[in-house]
Amino acid sequence: MAANDVDVDFHQAPDRRGSGSLKWDLHGGDALPFWVADMDFTSPPEVVAALEKRAAHGVFGYAYPTIEEKEAVLHYLRTRHRIHAEGSWLVWLPGLVPALSVTAAVARTQGARSILTCTPIYPPFLKAPLDGALDVLQVPLVEESGRLTWDRQALEEAVRPDTGLFILCNPHNPVGRVYTREELDWLGDFCARHELLLCSDEIHCDLILDEERTPHISALHLDHDWQKSIITLMAASKTYNIAGVGCAFAVIPDGNLRVAFRQAMGCWIAPVNVFGYTATAAAFRHGEPWRQALLETLRDNHAFFADYLATHHPDLPLTKAEATYLAWLDVRPLGTDIHLVAHFQKHGLTLSNGRDFGAPGFVRWNLGCPRAMLAEGLKRFSHAISALP
Ligand SMILES: Cc1ncc(COP(=O)(O)O)c(C=O)c1O
Repeated sequence: MAANDVDVDFHQAPDRRGSGSLKWDLHGGDALPFWVADMDFTSPPEVVAALEKRAAHGVFGYAYPTIEEKEAVLHYLRTRHRIHAEGSWLVWLPGLVPALSVTAAVARTQGARSILTCTPIYPPFLKAPLDGALDVLQVPLVEESGRLTWDRQALEEAVRPDTGLFILCNPHNPVGRVYTREELDWLGDFCARHELLLCSDEIHCDLILDEERTPHISALHLDHDWQKSIITLMAASKTYNIAGVGCAFAVIPDGNLRVAFRQAMGCWIAPVNVFGYTATAAAFRHGEPWRQALLETLRDNHAFFADYLATHHPDLPLTKAEATYLAWLDVRPLGTDIHLVAHFQKHGLTLSNGRDFGAPGFVRWNLGCPRAMLAEGLKRFSHAISALP
């Protein structure tokens, strides 16, 4: 049993091979998958029970959120994030990746020809902007006092008169930064001065490892005047491991921007399926003890991972994560020309390639798995390194 008497054992996970899991079945074989961002833990039992109840109903026509499901999201925003949203601000979506494309489409409709983001970054940020119709201006993060942050001067230099959108990831996948109030105020001002829409992807906002030291501050807390240009994206999917049920939402306080967003969705974006609302509401309503137990497990896994690397591969710089179950590792010191990710794959380890995030020479690990799997993955990692030519 995990901590907090939660009825999920975070030391174990069901066998997902052959279950139609993207993470486990895409590459097949015996490689252990530490790539795509879903965890191997079963979701909170209340979520499973709610889905079973919904399935037992037996009618699966087009879905619409019930008043209780909508209220579960508003209650979550109020109690977890001190955001007093109105129901009308919510735009439901089958996922946040489509929302990135929709946001880019809004910017383009408003005349933008380029968008701005900071790398390394979750790959769809680089691809979603209408498949090449907008230039994606990438500004690398810089290290300041041991933490990665935006390069303010470089952003001022990179922004163009035709730039219409900044896409923010907070907490930042893959580096795990949780931005401070001062940083966010600077960004809000930057976007206002350059008349940029701000899209804040906050899908990882309930996976803060130390909520006292690095609390999440939503873009919805930024200056009231700036809200007419802010689209905030959220979901229960990462935290409660329900990405496969496909439900997310944008919170857009400004009515005009909301209309533009809905228009850009047009007929391109599928509605949320019947299970999406159910799982999201159950997770927000009942998932808190499970989330606390998960966070304890993730803190332990991050510490275990960092200790192992410090002991066995002290030459590989690891970015200290403040949030998420992701770890960002610099493997450039291995100093080799060979395709490292393919090499790790050959040695039984599937990792995400930093190149896809705009940072070749890095790998991203997913630590959302039982400790034994992580330990085995690290063993394979060391073995792969010792087998390098
Ligand atoms: C920052 C970020 N945004 C969006 C997504 C994916 O969202 P969805 O599955 O809702 O499309 C991920 C998945 O890892 C992510 O890390």
